[in-house]
Amino acid sequence: MHKLTFPILEQLSDGHFHSGEAIAQQFKVSRATVFNAIKSAVDHGIQIFSVRGKGYKLPHAIQLLSSTAIADTGLITSLQNITEIHPVLDSTNRYLINKIPHLAQQNRIVACNLQTAGRGRRGRQWQAQLGESLTFSVCWHFQCGAAALSGLSLSIGAALIRALHALGYHEAQLKWPNDIVTTEQGKIKKLAGILIELQGDLEGPSVAVIGVGLNLQLSKTLQNNIDQPVTDLASINNGNQALDPNMILTALLHALVPTLTQFETNGFSTDKPFWLAQNAYRNKNLTLIQPDGRQIKGTMHDIGNDGALIVQTSEGIKQFNSGEISLRPA
Ligand code: BTN
Repeated sequence: MHKLTFPILEQLSDGHFHSGEAIAQQFKVSRATVFNAIKSAVDHGIQIFSVRGKGYKLPHAIQLLSSTAIADTGLITSLQNITEIHPVLDSTNRYLINKIPHLAQQNRIVACNLQTAGRGRRGRQWQAQLGESLTFSVCWHFQCGAAALSGLSLSIGAALIRALHALGYHEAQLKWPNDIVTTEQGKIKKLAGILIELQGDLEGPSVAVIGVGLNLQLSKTLQNNIDQPVTDLASINNGNQALDPNMILTALLHALVPTLTQFETNGFSTDKPFWLAQNAYRNKNLTLIQPDGRQIKGTMHDIGNDGALIVQTSEGIKQFNSGEISLRPA
C-alpha cells in the first residue's frame, strides 16, 4: 500500500469531503501523489467517492483503531504494553506466528485496521475491510502442551460471548466448535470467527496464536464476497449504538485474557456449562456434514471436556472432533 494511503484515510475517516488540493498541502506532496495514494486504497477494495470540485470521501464516517484511543478506553496497562496496532497487515495471525521466535516467551496482542489476506479455518479466506471488521490476534504461551489445548477454542468462544453480552449484544450465541453467530428467524448467521494456530510439543510448552475476526458493519460489497449467511454488530443494534472498535477490542481482551490464564489450570470444563447454555443448536435437530459431503442427522447431546461434539444420532451417540464435520440446521 502507498505510504500516504493510511494517513489520508485517517483524514477521510470523518466521512466528509476533503479536496485533493487540501490533502496535498497538508502532506506537502503533489496532487498526483494524493491521487496515487487514493488509487492504492481503491485497489485494496476501499470504497472512496471522488467528486470533481469536492474531492474525496468515504461512504460514511468510521472509527479507526489507535493505541491512544485504546489507552483512553481503560485497557489495563499490562495489556497496553503488549498490544500493537497496525494500519495494514496481511494477516494478524501470520504476523504473530512470524514474530514468535523474537518474542522471548512474551505474550503479544496485534490488531490492524485493514487486514488484506485474512486466514480462516480449513484453509479458507477471512474477508475484512477498513471500518467494517475488527481483526486481531493474541499470541499466548502455555506451559502445558498442545494436547491439553484441545478445548481452548471453545473457551475462547465462551469468553467472546461474555464480552459481547456485556456490551449489550445479547443475541450473540455459539456454534460448535467456535463460531459466534446469531439466529434470525431460524437462520444461523455468522458474526465472528476464531482461528487458533498452535506451535510446540504435544507435552509442552506450547504457544497459541488466537485470531478473532468480528463483523462490525459489513458493506453490501463485502457481504457479497462471503459464501455463507453473515451478520454484523450494526444489524444487531439497529445502528443505535456507535461502533467504536477501540472500546470493543478492549472489552474482548478483558474477557479473553483471564480465560487464557484460567485455561492453563482448569481447561474447558469451567466454561462448559456456560458454553452449552449459549449454544445456538441447543435442543435443535442438526445435520452434520462430513468432509466427503455425507450427512448425518442428530441432536446435540453434550460437549466433551476436550471440546469434542457429542451427538445423538439414529445409530447411537457419536463423538466428533473439530475439522471432522460442520453443522447445519436440520
Ligand atoms: C473462521 O474461519 O471462522 C476463522 C476466522 C478467523 C479470522 C481472524 S481475523 C484476525 C486473525 N487473522 C487471520 O488471518 N485470521 C484471524
